[in-house]
Amino acid sequence: MAVREILTFDHPILRQKARKVARVDASVVRLLDDLAETMYAAPGAGLAAPQIGVPLRVCVVKGDDNQHWSLVNPVLVRWEGSQVGPEGCLSLPGWVGEVERYETVWVRALNRKGKEIKVKASGFTARAFQHEIDHLDGILFTDRLTSLETLKRVEELEAGELEAVRG
Ligand code: CO
Repeated sequence: MAVREILTFDHPILRQKARKVARVDASVVRLLDDLAETMYAAPGAGLAAPQIGVPLRVCVVKGDDNQHWSLVNPVLVRWEGSQVGPEGCLSLPGWVGEVERYETVWVRALNRKGKEIKVKASGFTARAFQHEIDHLDGILFTDRLTSLETLKRVEELEAGELEAVRG
């Protein structure tokens, strides 16, 4: 396991559609471990493989109690409701903006053992899932801002906005 360097917004890999993983082998497990360690070190709510320079459909999302999901080839299979809230990105440090997301999502993926899992998440965690899956399609939260005026420096935020999803 290793903490990897997180690429910033200007890196072209963050704008590419990541490739599907054909088989969950030892290299993919190692990638998941590096993603988790890098996410906890940041710290962030999630991290996607393209953010550490690997163009594969692999990401991690933090849950409660220092648990996290390891997701390979994740797909949103169902969604419900909507929420609007502050969001940032580990690849754009220091900035937060308002983004609309589904309130509840169901995600299908392979876990680190290559077994299919289905996860249901709401609220903050659901935002993190959507943020990370966007990364796999080359989409950044700044593409989804409700308005450009909501993009602010972290220093300008008020207390309630500090709970931003950063992934
Ligand atoms: Co991000």
